[in-house]
Amino acid sequence: MAKHTITLIPGDGIGPEITTAMRRVVEAAGVDVEWEVAEAGADVMDKHGTPLPEGVLESIRRNKVAIKGPITTPVGTGFRSVNVALRKELDLYACLRPAFSIPGTGARYDGVDIVIVRENTEDLYAGIEFEQGSEGAQELIEFVESRGAGRIRPDSGISLKPISVSGTRRIVRFAFEHAIANGRKKVTAVHKANILKHSDGLFLRVAREVAEEYAGSGVEFEDYIVDATCMQLVLRPEQFDVLVLPNLYGDIVSDLAAGLIGGLGIAPGANIGDECAVFEPVHGSAPKYAGKDMANPTAEILSAVLMLNHIGEREAADKVLAGVKRVLSEGAQVTYDVKRTLTGSVDGCVGTQAYADAIIATFA
Ligand code: NAI
Repeated sequence: MAKHTITLIPGDGIGPEITTAMRRVVEAAGVDVEWEVAEAGADVMDKHGTPLPEGVLESIRRNKVAIKGPITTPVGTGFRSVNVALRKELDLYACLRPAFSIPGTGARYDGVDIVIVRENTEDLYAGIEFEQGSEGAQELIEFVESRGAGRIRPDSGISLKPISVSGTRRIVRFAFEHAIANGRKKVTAVHKANILKHSDGLFLRVAREVAEEYAGSGVEFEDYIVDATCMQLVLRPEQFDVLVLPNLYGDIVSDLAAGLIGGLGIAPGANIGDECAVFEPVHGSAPKYAGKDMANPTAEILSAVLMLNHIGEREAADKVLAGVKRVLSEGAQVTYDVKRTLTGSVDGCVGTQAYADAIIATFA
């Protein structure tokens, strides 16, 4: 296989440690990679005046593929999430979050094999917000009232929830294409169309239209209300296959799904657009574990498995996945979080890099 140039964003908090573990595992699996390291986040603010320097975006645009560690979004400092900005700038409209059971994680459920496809660019995450007391909020409140559309309390802050026909069409098509390419049987559109008629109602209508286009594909279609979906996921998660959701529900439901399969330390993700793809775990920077060689790099390593499949390195992807499964099911060399779930105590757990070493040892 040819050499791959991949942008690597280590991130902050536990990011540098888990991306180091991931990088060592990928290299040991025999993939020829040149990592183009690009720093983003609060730590580069002083140097570049922005948490997302243009060089980072240029690197990803050039290489088409990036993998990242989590990046902290400081609360109340005025800068919006680098993670959200990356998705917007590169139009990474599809967020793919598989949740599958791996024996040995101590997860509450076996037999879960769900793929969550979350719309990544609109909905309440579009970032169109009006601060309480601002002129914009005031004007909007007056506008809404003048239209007879309802009354908003004058002391409200407001976030808008735009959902478009084009945005919905491409995400639902993505879900069907992913289902077909991966031999999956069903796509479930998740919404709250009974209440939010002009946003989620539109999402449902367009999802049904797209499902019609795929009528002969062998992939079944159904829709579910988001609250019922959450209950069903906890009751009988094995009934679901591919879920497609607007941004906010996708965010929440993918954490729920991560909980079904053993927690955030295990759950991988990918943000995919027509041009580029950025792979990253579902979890955040877990600052309280930063620099302690404690964090579980599984989610980061499984994100690399998604990436390796994406770049055509299927053999290496299978090798890494098999290694992760073997080390987890043997249960001897696992990080604190898995050990605690399995035994109720962290005694005998290993560190981030020792766990990566155990995976690498399975390649011999
Ligand atoms: P978090 O996911 O960082 O941590 C929540 C808890 O989950 C941690 O305290 C820890 O107990 C556990 N955890 C998470 N990852 C783990 C791992 N790999 N191994 C072992 N345990 C793990 O969520 P939180 O605390 O809400 O966010 C912290 C920061 O991360 C925030 O600034 C947030 O904005 C950011 N964040 C960044 C994301 C990204 O870069 N894509 C995604 C989510 C959050």
